[in-house]
Amino acid sequence: MTTLPPVKIVNISTIPAISNQSADIVAVVLDETDLEQGKIKNSGLQSLDASLGGAISALAELKDFEGKWLSTAVTLCTVNSVAKRVVLVGGGKKTDEKPARARAIGLKISEEALRFKAKKVTVCGSSTFFAAAELVAQMAVGVRMGAYKYPNSNLTAEARKELETPLEIQFAGLSAGADAGLKDASIVADSIETCRLLQDAPPNVATPKYVAQVMTDKARAAGLTVQVYGAEKLRQMGFNAMMAVAGGSCNEPQFVVVEYAPVNAKTSVAFVGKGLTMDTGGYSIKTPSTHQVGMKYDMSGAAVVLNSVVAIAKLQLPVRVFAVAALCENMIDAHAYRVGDVLTTYNGKTIEVLNTDAEGRIVLSDALAYTAKDLKPDTIIEYSTLTGAMITALGHLGAGIFPFNSDTLQDTVSNAAKAAGERVWPMPTWDEIGEDVKGTIADVNNIGATAGACGSSVGAMFLKEFVENKPYCHVDIAGVANGNMALGFPRKISSGFGVQLSVQIARALSGK
Ligand code: BES
Ligand code: ZN
Ligand code: ZN
Repeated sequence: MTTLPPVKIVNISTIPAISNQSADIVAVVLDETDLEQGKIKNSGLQSLDASLGGAISALAELKDFEGKWLSTAVTLCTVNSVAKRVVLVGGGKKTDEKPARARAIGLKISEEALRFKAKKVTVCGSSTFFAAAELVAQMAVGVRMGAYKYPNSNLTAEARKELETPLEIQFAGLSAGADAGLKDASIVADSIETCRLLQDAPPNVATPKYVAQVMTDKARAAGLTVQVYGAEKLRQMGFNAMMAVAGGSCNEPQFVVVEYAPVNAKTSVAFVGKGLTMDTGGYSIKTPSTHQVGMKYDMSGAAVVLNSVVAIAKLQLPVRVFAVAALCENMIDAHAYRVGDVLTTYNGKTIEVLNTDAEGRIVLSDALAYTAKDLKPDTIIEYSTLTGAMITALGHLGAGIFPFNSDTLQDTVSNAAKAAGERVWPMPTWDEIGEDVKGTIADVNNIGATAGACGSSVGAMFLKEFVENKPYCHVDIAGVANGNMALGFPRKISSGFGVQLSVQIARALSGK
């Protein structure tokens, strides 16, 4: 059993009303429409204000708080049995991208809870965010994400004790329907947390074997079927492309296939993930070496798909799901692959290697070909931190999507992304770009002929050669896997981006 480092324990529950909770904090989420010129506008809030000893009206009157987006104001609670402090959290006035906004509020509440070293926080409010179960669920996911931190590798006893002391979050006065949302939220938040622990783990810890073992344990515990193929088996199977990339590393590659097969499934989907536990660039080494910093996150696609299938299974969605993760490391060594090598992939197509740093597409060629040929899913969704060009195009604000072989998949993925609170944007998949990767001595080259042009689309056009015309969407998460700057994501570290998207895609495909 491989263990993950400890993270802050957060328990989320519901209570009928805020009275007699002796919480450290009552967090009240209010938006700009709840207040007007220093006065409470919404009559439903008057009784909440009264039970908090007039804390809301006092802060409003001082104009300390006007409901502005993510603003906060703090006061002591004068009503003894309710809480020590009242923290008002602003819901703003914008109502677009509600799921991401709800998650951002959850992050804020966690931030405040940690700032005051609170053990118990009651959450309530009158704003739009409490009206719908899915937004309450996003707030809960946000609270969990906000409490997450990759722990110091040398934790003091005190810090460990702090992590092990649970943070109790109680949503007060929710409607009955929102309870179901919270249960789902905790399943999704668990998967996001494991995903992030794997993403943030240093590359000498999160080797292909470590990731495979952690996820085998998690998947088996959720009742799923798991198969892990190592170097010998992969060589026998004809994964020559993946084995070439893995050649320079002393860490054995691992190909992981997880299956969730509910009896009531009417359709099937495979989520495929790029799992480079480190990408140095290989002989086309990343220069300056500062470009290698952060390349531990190059396994994010694998972490996302493996954790998505666990969430989808626990949610019991009626869709057959495969998670396929190609885990290996791109290093330099006498056994490493070279520029100029020609590789024969799993489906027999050949690749000429013109840059060893465009390794993700090489590894994925075998993974996608295997998925299409052996697993035969109705739809393939693949996540990869594939190109730096994706960051040039969309910054750290959204993932590029590249749909193929379907008239409906772009809408399915875009709509799922809206529900997930994870931004995606469709990118070009023009035939001319595909011409760019046509090979001369092999079927395809691993970089485009027009150096640097449409870099992300070139990667996508290469990948689609390996899916046998199945409905397929490539999702380039290079900009958002870590250092995500979008609404509702923590800054700098891992984001778990893709777990919620996969869950929503599975929901959409299953008709639930
Ligand atoms: N893992 C990188 C892409 C990447 C870059 C992700 C920066 C996150 C941040 C990928 O393997 C890579 O190196 N791609 C090359 C492709 C090029 C050689 C065609 C790139 O983007 O420069
Ligand atoms: Zn690379
Ligand atoms: Zn890479």
